Amino acid sequence: MLILGLETSCDETGVALYDTERGLLAHALFSQVDIHVEYGGVVPELASRDHVRKTLPLVEEVLAQAGVAGPDIDAVAYTAGPGLVGALMVGATLARGLAFGWGVPALGVHHMEGHLLAPMLEEESPDFPFVALLVSGGHTQLVRVDGIGQYTMLGESLDDAAGEAFDKAAKMLGLPYPGGPHIARLALDGDPERFDFPRPMVNRPGLDFSFSGLKTYTLNTVEDCRAAGGLSEQDRCDIARAFEEAVVATLVIKCRRALRQEGLKTLVIAGGVSANTNLRASLARKLERDGARVFYPAPVFCTDNGAMIAYAGAQRLLAGQVDADDATVRPRWPMEELPPLAAEGVA
Ligand code: KG4
Ligand code: ZN
Repeated sequence: MLILGLETSCDETGVALYDTERGLLAHALFSQVDIHVEYGGVVPELASRDHVRKTLPLVEEVLAQAGVAGPDIDAVAYTAGPGLVGALMVGATLARGLAFGWGVPALGVHHMEGHLLAPMLEEESPDFPFVALLVSGGHTQLVRVDGIGQYTMLGESLDDAAGEAFDKAAKMLGLPYPGGPHIARLALDGDPERFDFPRPMVNRPGLDFSFSGLKTYTLNTVEDCRAAGGLSEQDRCDIARAFEEAVVATLVIKCRRALRQEGLKTLVIAGGVSANTNLRASLARKLERDGARVFYPAPVFCTDNGAMIAYAGAQRLLAGQVDADDATVRPRWPMEELPPLAAEGVA
């Protein structure tokens, strides 16, 4: 089965072709970062308009890359939520239009399920059950995954998402949006001993997160440096390092706690923040000591992309799921509402 996947939930247009027998055939991505950078965040209307411009050319590019013609496609999967309503509607309308024209089914996919299953695109992929840490610009969630659509929420952020915290800290340091990769770059030259930022909520039981206190601590530290003679380049690197260390340590502690609580030895991390090399290295080091293993997507599939939507859509389409006639986008869509999938549907 050959599936075209479209991702347009936020500020990246992603398109991919996934074949359930041959794997990923082609993918293309356009990031709108340059459009939004001067506003310091994503402007929804600009995002929608750019998806209108980019999605079809990317579809053509992907078909050409794979040497596939439109009518060869068996189904079209698209991100139906959660995300920005206008941006989602562009992808949904295009996907359903293409599917209608080709006389094939369309299926709306949950964006976070896409992230969650992205490690399955790798050669070595995890077996169910596992614990997943989903860390993106909009979500920080620990989920027990017993199969596709069998999700139990173990913990989530009570305020900012981890990626959002990275973006806000970056803004305080005068770094552009999205801030995560910029903080990570500065942190490489930072002194880990200079500041000791708080590790939010690690001393409280449970698996929820909160990053607002850390955000305030970061702002106060920036202001202290300014008051003490100006924010130097070294100050910025040291603050970036301390901030990154605090977020990483918090995420690692909660992941180990979740694995212990669930009696599992497999962790999956996905979403934009899972591209962070410090987080990957710390998790690998700590989990090895526990006899556990961590799986993550290739860096290009950590942030938003069409491949994860094509893959997640493929699993559900194989199990016979298709859009109802009145299907609509869902800007807010709790992942626990997704239906489970028959085991034979998993490729
Ligand atoms: O999953 P994603 O591409 O979009 C959402 O669905 O939100 O995640 C984007 C988030 C941004 O907040 C960005 O700053 C963060 O992921 N991010 C990182 C890194 N790369 C992207 N955060 C920390 N370190 C990175 N290397
Ligand atoms: Zn995402």
